[in-house]
Amino acid sequence: SPAPVLTVDGPGGSGKGTVCRLVQARTGWHLLDSGAIYRALAVAADRRGLSVAEEAELVDLAHDLALEFRPDEGGEPRVLLAGDDITSALRAEQTGNLASQLAVVPAVRQALLARQRAFRAPPGLIADGRDMGTVVFPDATVKVFLTATVEERARRRHKQLKEQGVGGNLADLLKEISERDQRDRSRSVAPLIPAEDAVVLDTTGASIETVVDRVMRLLTQVT
Ligand code: C5P
Repeated sequence: SPAPVLTVDGPGGSGKGTVCRLVQARTGWHLLDSGAIYRALAVAADRRGLSVAEEAELVDLAHDLALEFRPDEGGEPRVLLAGDDITSALRAEQTGNLASQLAVVPAVRQALLARQRAFRAPPGLIADGRDMGTVVFPDATVKVFLTATVEERARRRHKQLKEQGVGGNLADLLKEISERDQRDRSRSVAPLIPAEDAVVLDTTGASIETVVDRVMRLLTQVT
């Protein structure tokens, strides 16, 4: 039987990234940051001057994307595109916005499917994204959907960007996050919605430890 999968879906700033990294530290499972793949595609498209309308070129780019995730002590892994370190460009708010525009195109999503599924390997996979439990791994072992109010998510993103030395205005972030939510929720293919069999956890006001403990309990019940 295939390796077990824990899917963690939810909107940006819901705490998915942090929760997944902590669960990874406790389990030793592999980690798929699917948002980083969409973001890397955005960086690559931007470098080639491709627009969202150039669908065939985007699909080719998605198939050929020479991506490498390199573990980094403690924090997030470094991301290399054709050998070029794009980790900081990847985190820019502008990259996230372009990624969410490319992510609307069904053929682009299709082109990234096999690449994402290839992360599934023993002893298990933690898959972070928007459609991990609904589309990419519908047969996942445990499905979690994290939520938080848009205000809380904007505050978290603001803090995170500050720590990365990127800066940004809280009111602007709130507006961008709301727009991105709207686009992610309303697209016709793989919209941001919990899988029917997902456990929905509201992380507003909850500590990271509480959320991680909750997810670990769900996981140990079935593995
Ligand atoms: O999670 P992150 O902010 O890195 O994702 C960037 C964008 O990529 C999201 O706003 C979403 O539109 C898109 N995405 C997606 N499906 C995923 C992961 C990310 O559509 N599984």
